[in-house]
This record gives sequence, structure tokens and C-alpha cells, in this order.
Amino acid sequence: MRSSVIIAIDGPAASGKSSVSRALARRLGFAYVNSGAMYRAATWWMLRRGANPDDPASVLALLPRMQFECGLENGASTIRVDGADPSSHLCDGEVNEHVSALSRIPEVRRLLVEKQRHYAGICDLVMEGRDIGSVVFPDTPFKFYIDAAPEIRARRRARQGQRDAITERDLADTSRKTSPLTIAEDAYVIDSSNLTIDGVVGEIVGRLKLKGLEVPE
Ligand code: C5P
Repeated sequence: MRSSVIIAIDGPAASGKSSVSRALARRLGFAYVNSGAMYRAATWWMLRRGANPDDPASVLALLPRMQFECGLENGASTIRVDGADPSSHLCDGEVNEHVSALSRIPEVRRLLVEKQRHYAGICDLVMEGRDIGSVVFPDTPFKFYIDAAPEIRARRRARQGQRDAITERDLADTSRKTSPLTIAEDAYVIDSSNLTIDGVVGEIVGRLKLKGLEVPE
């Protein structure tokens, strides 16, 4: 059996990774998996149940009861928590505010990383996140880190009309002990500040071809 091709896309908040990863997956005919959505869904569920992500004990008390299911629909990842679809709440202000605190908790990461790795047994995929190239799939030869100037990222988020303190989130994500946001040693870094989505996808495709991956025209 052939093993899955995995394209890891990491980077800070509002760097453009979601739009790029979705477009890249479509171009390649791969599944698109958003690992940030999993941390967001878990945060939403914990907040609804009254846990405080800044208090790990309150999260750990509920974690064994969280029924977290990941799937695929129309080529993209889906999530159900206790049977509920959290997708309309993933970018709520309170989720943006608390997701980095929840993501610091090693037991939460262990659970979600296991779900993320499960996709590799199913299909070829583009997965975006913070630790995909460094921790989730360290052996994939296809790793990208997408960045953009802080003011451009802040402008992109504001245009989306979201309450999201991205500087604080980036600081929390890069400074945590477990699986911090970092540039994997063998990742190819792209500054998307002055590039369109198609421009970034084009750069990634060029790099994938150089590395021997067959890409449909
Ligand atoms: O990518 P997105 O901004 O939706 O991710 C939300 C949060 O989830 C991040 O700020 C980070 O705290 C967490 N995250 C993570 N590891 C990942 C993906 C997201 O810790 N692989």
C-alpha cells in the first residue's frame, strides 16, 4: 500500500495559511485539513461546559467526556463534538481569546495530534497548523512555513471583522513549552506579505515539483 503524501503548512495567525492550504489542496486533488479548527472546536466545547482554559485542571476534568470526531466531507475536514457541529462558532471572539491557552495543555494536544495523524492513513492531504511539520508529521519532505508582516496580518484579520488579538496569540503559541510554533529546520519559508493566494500557491507548487511531486496542470 502506498503511503499518503502529506503537505505541512505552518505559520502564525492570519498569515494566509487557510486560504492557501484550501486552494493548494484543490489544485492537487488532496484533502484539506485545518488543525486549528480542532483546537478551536475543543475550546468552544470547553467554554460551553464551563471550563476555564487558563485553569488546566478544569479542562482535564472534562477532557475524558469530550467525544471528538473528525471526518472528511467534500475533500475537507469536518468536526463533531458530542455530535454537535461547532463550525459556526470557531471564530467567535471568546474562542479567539481562549484557544491559545487550551492549546498549551499537553493532554489536549496529545488527543488532537492523534486525530490529525489518523488522516494520513486515509488519503493524501494538505494540513495547516502550528506544529504540523515539526511534530505531527516530522517525516514529510513537504514542509512550508507561511509568514507575513505583522501589520498586514492585523489588517487581514480586521477586514474579516473578527475580534482577535493576534499578537498575543502568536506570543502564546511561540512561547509555550509543548509543540510551540516554530519554523521546522527543513521547511521552506514564504513571506506572503506582497503575494496573492494564487502567488503563494504557485510558489509552493513550484517547490513541490522541484522535490519530485507530480502536480496536475
Ligand atoms: O490556525 P488558527 O489560527 O485557527 O489556530 C487557532 C489556535 O489553535 C492557534 O492560535 C494555536 O493556539 C492553536 N493551534 C495549535 N496547533 C496547531 C493549530 C492550531 O496550537 N497545529
